[in-house]
Amino acid sequence: MAKKTKYDRTVEDLGNIVFLEHLNVKAPDQRLSTIFYVMGLGLTRDPYLVTGINNMWINCGKSQFHLPTGPAQVLRGLTGLVIPGREALLERLEMVKDDLAQTSFMFSEKKDHVEVVCPWGNRFKVHEPGPKFPGMMLGMPYMEVNAPKGSSSGIARFYEEILDTPASAGKTSATVSVGPGQKIIFKETSKKLADYDGHHVAIYLANFSRPYEKLLKLGLITEESDQHQYRFLDIVDLKSKKPLVRLEHEVRSMRHPLYAREHTNRNPNISNRVYAPGHQDAVYASAPVSL
Ligand SMILES: [Fe+2]
Repeated sequence: MAKKTKYDRTVEDLGNIVFLEHLNVKAPDQRLSTIFYVMGLGLTRDPYLVTGINNMWINCGKSQFHLPTGPAQVLRGLTGLVIPGREALLERLEMVKDDLAQTSFMFSEKKDHVEVVCPWGNRFKVHEPGPKFPGMMLGMPYMEVNAPKGSSSGIARFYEEILDTPASAGKTSATVSVGPGQKIIFKETSKKLADYDGHHVAIYLANFSRPYEKLLKLGLITEESDQHQYRFLDIVDLKSKKPLVRLEHEVRSMRHPLYAREHTNRNPNISNRVYAPGHQDAVYASAPVSL
């Protein structure tokens, strides 16, 4: 008789945060944003929504960057991305170097990723698809956010108890589950954090009202946006109620009209010179899965 496979069913568990959808950072110049995000990283401007000059949405698989036009905002940390084709990425980044010469743009090759900095200082680690990122060919698997010394256990407790999502604290970091294959990692730093400049992240919750009631009780709701959305800004120590770190969360329910919206993602390796019908789309799911 064949030996029965023993499955670890807990690997499939998911917390109450089901999706990290976007990072919103204001950017002052759409021309430079286009050079960086579309020509350099090879991502796609959303062709259907927010197509004017006061904002632009950049698709990266199922996730997005939102770039309202305004004084530059910078995430205090970095965004991890999965983009297929390291060599092609390096060629594109090389190609935009001159156009971005007077900005903070830079890139450097690391062993398992390419480090990239946007014209205004936002940092990215770009990885190839692979077993480390199951089911993801193109997307936003993680964000690293700087946090003060000694804040990790308090941050993990906040997400576990208030947002009802798995979170664990190590010695100098807290890792929070924000969707299948998506994490926010708060990393302690002894350096003084830059003043919070108003950037935000958008997350979706399965149970929307329970965290809302808890946040309301703590006085942490900062915006009652609409039926499907509210916001909070401070992550607090649940004992002392003192703020640990500030990161604005745009919190949405799964009934929000934009939940799991299909995004257009082009294949940046195809051009009018090298065109094959049916190959203009980038596939953003079905990366190799380790079994
Ligand atoms: Fe947003």
